[in-house]
Amino acid sequence: SVPRPILGIETSCDETGVALLRWEPQAPGQGLLAHALYTQIKLHADYGGVVPELASRDHVRKLLPLVREALSQAGLTPADLGGVAYTAGPGLVGALLVGAATGRAMAWALGVPAIGVHHMEGHLLAPLLEDDPPEPPFVALLVSGGHSMLVQVEAVGRYRILGDTLDDAAGEAFDKTAKLMGLPYPGGPALAALAGQGRPGAFRFSRPMTDRPGLDFSFSGLKTQVLLAWQQSDQSEQTRADIARAFEEAIVDTLLIKCRRALQETGAKRLVIAGGVGANRRLREELAAAGVKDGFKTYFPRLQFCTDNGAMIALAGAIRLAHGQHQDESVQVFPRWDL
Ligand code: KG4
Ligand code: ZN
Repeated sequence: SVPRPILGIETSCDETGVALLRWEPQAPGQGLLAHALYTQIKLHADYGGVVPELASRDHVRKLLPLVREALSQAGLTPADLGGVAYTAGPGLVGALLVGAATGRAMAWALGVPAIGVHHMEGHLLAPLLEDDPPEPPFVALLVSGGHSMLVQVEAVGRYRILGDTLDDAAGEAFDKTAKLMGLPYPGGPALAALAGQGRPGAFRFSRPMTDRPGLDFSFSGLKTQVLLAWQQSDQSEQTRADIARAFEEAIVDTLLIKCRRALQETGAKRLVIAGGVGANRRLREELAAAGVKDGFKTYFPRLQFCTDNGAMIALAGAIRLAHGQHQDESVQVFPRWDL
């Protein structure tokens, strides 16, 4: 029998994401029936960052209309659903509770199983939604606003953390650096866009922790280097672009060095890149070029599935539900939760 579609719900931070996915083991992307996203960026822009209470309240307002929209895109009704997956953590507790409570209530009313998904597992599996999905074993570079990790994926659900960030995550470094050079929230994508106008070689920042063995990251020092360079400069538009470029090069180069090291140490031939920073053009280009040169294959989610979305949660949940996993009726979330 054909498996029934799973509803995926993402509300861990400032995006409300919903998707419907029918589990197709050979080609998961073909099982994606609908997806809808509402971003709260405008809501938080005046505050220069995500305000948790406002985020929760906006998820409450937007989630059910988005579910309705996704169902109508797919030509389905709630009664067609075979299960519900929602992000159970890590993330903002109030925001997570909106998705968890809504998802659990729907599953209970429909008499179908529900499962809480790890947000980073969602990111990690997002490349499976593309054509020619990667087969484990592979190494995954997970770079988002909250995490910078290298993970060895032996199978879906069997993860070994090879390296983690000791302080700021890669996306956090982008956001904080953008802020201190006066760019509006959300700074990461704006800084990346500005870097495109920067001149090569005008500034140079260090590649943190690449001069010693190991696969951990530390990006907080780069911020200080940028601040000093910016304060001591003429603060012109061109200088801001030049600094942005040098900063982006430092991050991308550091990630590239560590990815190569991780592939060497594990003997893996496949590299998956995921998470919000995976949308960065320079990072995508440099890693793809390194793959061609070194003989490893690179896998990226499409841009809209790099940043937070419901499709990756529907996918991670559908895989786990297909393996018979689900949880009891209590609404539990895990604001801090190791992969
Ligand atoms: O995965 P994501 O949407 O949310 C988290 O789980 O954190 O990642 C958001 C992060 C933000 O820090 C944002 O600045 C960064 O991803 N980001 C980028 C780009 N697009 C998003 N960083 C660099 N270049 C980009 N093009
Ligand atoms: Zn995320």
